[in-house]
Amino acid sequence: MNVLILGIDGYIGWSLALHLLSRGHTVAGIDNFSRRTNVGSVSSDSAIPIPEIGKRIEACERILGKKIRFYEGDILNYDLLRKVFSEFRPESIVHLAEQPSAPFSMISREHAVYTQHNNVEGSLNILYAMKEFSENCHLVKLGTMGEYGTPNVPIPEGFFEVEYRGRKDLMPFPRQPNSMYHLSKVHDSANLHFACRVWNFRATDVMQGVVYGTRVTEMTDDTLLTRFDFDESFGTVINRYCAQAVIGFPLTPYGAGHQKRGFIDLVDSIQCLTIAIEKPADRAQYRVFNQLDEVYDITGLAEKVVEASSKFGLKVEVNHVPNPRLEKEDHYYEVEHNHLRELGFRPTRKIEQTLDIILEDLLRYRERILQHKDAIMPRTKWVEAKSPKPVGELLHERLVAYDGDISKISQKDGLASTHRLSMDGSGTKA
Ligand SMILES: NC(=O)c1ccc[n+]([C@@H]2O[C@H](COP(=O)([O-])OP(=O)(O)OC[C@H]3O[C@@H](n4cnc5c(N)ncnc54)[C@H](O)[C@@H]3O)[C@@H](O)[C@H]2O)c1
Repeated sequence: MNVLILGIDGYIGWSLALHLLSRGHTVAGIDNFSRRTNVGSVSSDSAIPIPEIGKRIEACERILGKKIRFYEGDILNYDLLRKVFSEFRPESIVHLAEQPSAPFSMISREHAVYTQHNNVEGSLNILYAMKEFSENCHLVKLGTMGEYGTPNVPIPEGFFEVEYRGRKDLMPFPRQPNSMYHLSKVHDSANLHFACRVWNFRATDVMQGVVYGTRVTEMTDDTLLTRFDFDESFGTVINRYCAQAVIGFPLTPYGAGHQKRGFIDLVDSIQCLTIAIEKPADRAQYRVFNQLDEVYDITGLAEKVVEASSKFGLKVEVNHVPNPRLEKEDHYYEVEHNHLRELGFRPTRKIEQTLDIILEDLLRYRERILQHKDAIMPRTKWVEAKSPKPVGELLHERLVAYDGDISKISQKDGLASTHRLSMDGSGTKA
């Protein structure tokens, strides 16, 4: 199958490309290298050194005997998409080419605008390129489990049955995301669903859990490895913990540390994406997959990293730090994830095995992590709380006071004034 990977130079994109090639697919990819630039802009770098794309493709040809067709450029450039779509004629598109960091999107207005512009307009361009050149093509689009937020009910796979005033319907499950980045994915999901309903497109919207791991089986040589970021913006929680362990820093769960999230090994994430590509959605079908294997809370994860580190003689402590994010720190979290299993997905790894491999890989690059150690601890706050109470607490009080009577919200010093306090930093009440 002709598979076009948007974001082929990234963490998942490169791993997927190697795996699809080994399964006999023809692979082309686009990238504008913004991940490399953005990580540089927060004064960090991948712990695992990543050759420039020409060298990666050369290594792939030399070691695996497979060719990748690469187009350098931005998916916001519609003329580039016209060229790629008309030359390569994709049968399947995997769209990974987005700004993927929640903290990065929360640094400033400019970062939020950049993230939503890049992600939402990029995805729209893909939909229009499909409309112009290959309506029958299947789009696999990477969303995130973070689109749902942390509701106090089980999270279904995209849709749930609602009964309201005696009538029933199957409706999209509400999305309550916690950052400008996650919001961009919610907008994408709505656009994708629209294209399937109105233009009869076929699409799989992947609610991806946090992916961890340094390698897939095709990475038989160091030049084929994928990137590994550990800074506060681009390093996910397992990455940051492992990097901290390797340089002898304490692991730093945010806040109370009972936040639960869905996780999946890189090898298994690639297995899931391969299933999505090889068993496509039908015409006019908007399919949602919750793509995760296991749910962990972030303190439990820290304990697992401590245990794995001890096998390498690393003595590691855990120190909770104030939470820079506005999120529930102790909450219900139940996620349905059957669709991929019904299509044949079988998890192949346990997190304990993969932690050993990550630590072994990172120990070789300890010096590179030390060089950028200052980028690990969080600096980006969701709100600069100037009021005596955190905004989350005020929000909770408002909602308790609300109790069905909306006038009570405006009577009290409500959200808008809280927001003003935090945004202008003056400490004066509106
Ligand atoms: N890695 C995870 O744990 C995880 C979890 C949930 C969702 N996701 C989603 O999966 C996708 C891939 O994630 P990743 O970790 O591989 O991220 P990544 O940043 O490593 O990969 C994305 C790639 O797309 C490129 N890109 C971004 N905008 C582009 C544009 N406008 N034009 C061309 N190229 C562009 C980047 O340079 C990068 O190489 C992202 O959409 C991300 O939001 C990832």
